[in-house]
Amino acid sequence: TVIAAVLLVPEFGGLARGAYVLDGRTLPDDFIFSCGTSAYQIEGATGSKAVGGKGVSIWDTYAHEKGKGHIAHDQDGDIAMDFYHTYPRDLPLFKKALGINQYDFTIAWTRILPNGTGTRANQAGLDFYRNVIQTTHENGMTAACTIYHWDLPQALQDKYGGWLSKQIVADFRNYAEVIMDGLGDLCDDWLSMNEPRTFCDEGYGPDPDNAPAIANGTFDTVLKCRHNALLAHAEAHEAFLERKAQGKVRGRFGIKIDGGPGVPMDATSAADRAAVERHHAFQFWEVSPLVHGTYNPTMRAALGARLPSFSAAETRKLAGSYDFVAFDAYTSGWVAALNASARRACTGEESEFWPECVENADTDHAGFLIGKPTQSSWNFRANDTIYTGLKYMYDNGVKAFTVGENGMAVIKEASLRREERVVDADRVDWYRSTFKNIKWVLDAGMPLIGVSFWSCIDNLEWADGYDSKFGLIDTEPGYNQTRSAKMSANYVKAVMAGQLDS
Ligand code: NOJ
Repeated sequence: TVIAAVLLVPEFGGLARGAYVLDGRTLPDDFIFSCGTSAYQIEGATGSKAVGGKGVSIWDTYAHEKGKGHIAHDQDGDIAMDFYHTYPRDLPLFKKALGINQYDFTIAWTRILPNGTGTRANQAGLDFYRNVIQTTHENGMTAACTIYHWDLPQALQDKYGGWLSKQIVADFRNYAEVIMDGLGDLCDDWLSMNEPRTFCDEGYGPDPDNAPAIANGTFDTVLKCRHNALLAHAEAHEAFLERKAQGKVRGRFGIKIDGGPGVPMDATSAADRAAVERHHAFQFWEVSPLVHGTYNPTMRAALGARLPSFSAAETRKLAGSYDFVAFDAYTSGWVAALNASARRACTGEESEFWPECVENADTDHAGFLIGKPTQSSWNFRANDTIYTGLKYMYDNGVKAFTVGENGMAVIKEASLRREERVVDADRVDWYRSTFKNIKWVLDAGMPLIGVSFWSCIDNLEWADGYDSKFGLIDTEPGYNQTRSAKMSANYVKAVMAGQLDS
């Protein structure tokens, strides 16, 4: 019956700011309701189809190394969802299908500075983003501009190893300054970068799954990458503050971070509860640097000299270098203390998770799954991911946050016909849990200033290719593809408009 009700909700026009009502609760006037995309995942007009003087990014290179199993079915982002050409039609559709008041998108460094450096923006690239933002505004949405979402200029990877060199920090700041000077009159909010944990772990760690997939990654290269990413973020923030003081940019400045919170395997066990604390300290490793300018004590004690440290000047720049933190919430796990022999064996050498020296699993000791598996095989313990992650941030001093991303790829959706795909009951269930979490967070009085759902439209799910569909709007890669709002789009729109209880 809920499904029927959702399908029958009539289309309604643009919502004014502050028009959101969640299960009878009027949300604050400036509450953000948004959907997100990223440049390489939707734009196309890159790689063999590059236009407007666009340079090569590490994802162009990676996707074009065919036959190595980098991306499912050897797919690439050359055309992707063709957003580079279709944004004049897509942006009104995002608004109409979802009733959002903001659009979150990302800027491809190589459209602005094709080789990564220089102080003059490539005009065609800048014009593209100016047009995107103007169209966003014309359709009643504000624009949140993310400066970096994984598509590093290949030139900087070749020159000094990308995020592993401290040189990236100055180049990132320069790029951020060029963007702010080119788009400062248009962007309503800013985010420095997307998920440093993922791009460092998956691109520069052992068993890499993402570009640039360096050959000899270790946990130490991961730590170096993460460290440089935070320094780069802090520089971009400082550049933002300078421009804000001069009236050249407006809005708030944030960073998007991900992490999988844990639930104690045995809630009555003090050891398991302590393991969860430890797990959170490693999962939300950015929080302490962003709040205090130093890594948290748990990580410092566990990693000792392996953990890079911040100079006094860097600490000053980093501490408080945000107006909000965006939490990309997707997954959580059961967490337990290691038994004595596993603890002895835990040397901190092997992988990202190992130094935590806790057990982190999708199933509990009785084999009980923590939540429904999704296409990306993440388990969504609906009750916990958003609430628990934000609670950790709140308890550890983060002064404001958004849900930066939240969404799911429905298993085997790609093998269905469009008529079947758009009736996405599993995704409706997912967002029902999302809304439950959001209410808990608001009831607890935590400073949640908005939510953004991933993704506005189906797109290239990195190494998983186009088959892993996260969209609230259905489409296929390629030119001239049809777009259809899924049932989940109708659902979230109707709930946020107060027309349907979640
Ligand atoms: C995180 C990333 O920011 C985004 O690029 C990705 O598509 C989604 N999560 C889903 O995996």
